Amino acid sequence: DWNMPDYVSEAIERIRTQVGRDQVILGLSGGVDSSVAAALIHKAIGDQLTCVFVDHGLLRLNEAQQVMTTFADHFGMKVIHVDASAQFMGKLVGVADPEAKRKIIGKEFVEVFQVEAGKLSHARWLAQGTIYPDVIESAGAKTGKAAAIKSHHNVGGLPDTLNLKLLEPLRELFKDEVRKLGVALGLPPAMVYRHPFPGPGLGVRILGEVKHEYAELLRRADAIFIEELRKTVDPVSGKNWYDLTSQAFAVFLPVKSVGVMGDGRTYDYVVALRAVQTSDFMTADWAELPYSLLKKVSGRIINEVRGINRVTYDVSSKPPATIEWE
Ligand code: XMP
Repeated sequence: DWNMPDYVSEAIERIRTQVGRDQVILGLSGGVDSSVAAALIHKAIGDQLTCVFVDHGLLRLNEAQQVMTTFADHFGMKVIHVDASAQFMGKLVGVADPEAKRKIIGKEFVEVFQVEAGKLSHARWLAQGTIYPDVIESAGAKTGKAAAIKSHHNVGGLPDTLNLKLLEPLRELFKDEVRKLGVALGLPPAMVYRHPFPGPGLGVRILGEVKHEYAELLRRADAIFIEELRKTVDPVSGKNWYDLTSQAFAVFLPVKSVGVMGDGRTYDYVVALRAVQTSDFMTADWAELPYSLLKKVSGRIINEVRGINRVTYDVSSKPPATIEWE
């Protein structure tokens, strides 16, 4: 039996006892786990916490701005916003292989974080939003039980060379508990109940080589899709289609096809929409979105995003297809 107010005050006490007067650094991604960890630790130790938000330039539309608004402006946390997009884009030039892209983004991420952490030389603790399933997963990985099909970089990876002690206040919690805690701490529900977003971000949603131009088009198409999913309510359940799906996003296909626009011919890129329902992300069904919703989304993307003239819907389940296209 879980009592939220008691849990919060106990967690705060534990953090205060553990950390004392030391300074703490936390890598804030904007994802649920690091956001809730940040909110909790900030509530416990205030300005002894410094968050480092590494923006790799492969985030969604206005995402960096939202992270800064929520944590720096609203909560008044110390957040260092590192805009490293040019650096990441530079490293990705000419790289088309999905795993190679993941490795580069993951390695660069650690390096950028390390540089920032190095500047905060007074810090003694590294806080992470590790949750219980991560603990199990990485224990399995060490004993070779979990075969990693894709190299996910959001668990571990930060080097011991930082010489910091680990602060992981969410280690005993399951995802649904983390979400409830986040809401109790005053995080926006829309942030706490967001679909998962991969660490490499749009880097694995732009097929093949990542280019700034592609990322810009994809961000806009994806934002339209998400906006319409949130707006469209299913009359049977009374829920909107964002909440009825487990993950939904647009994928950029660097392929050109012919279209017509007014009197002219277009020769532009393609976007695929992906929406799935799943309980564990190990298997997933493609979501049977209403045709009227798909029509609205495709119409808006083609009309509003110049450079995209064709939209397709992915009707592949996992397995054998994965949720992401890379
Ligand atoms: P797949 O595509 O393997 O994805 O069916 C299963 C879940 O994992 C997420 N995913 C990732 N998350 N780094 C991450 O942090 C990654 O490299 C990565 N690849 C896939 C995916 O979004 C889905 O939720």
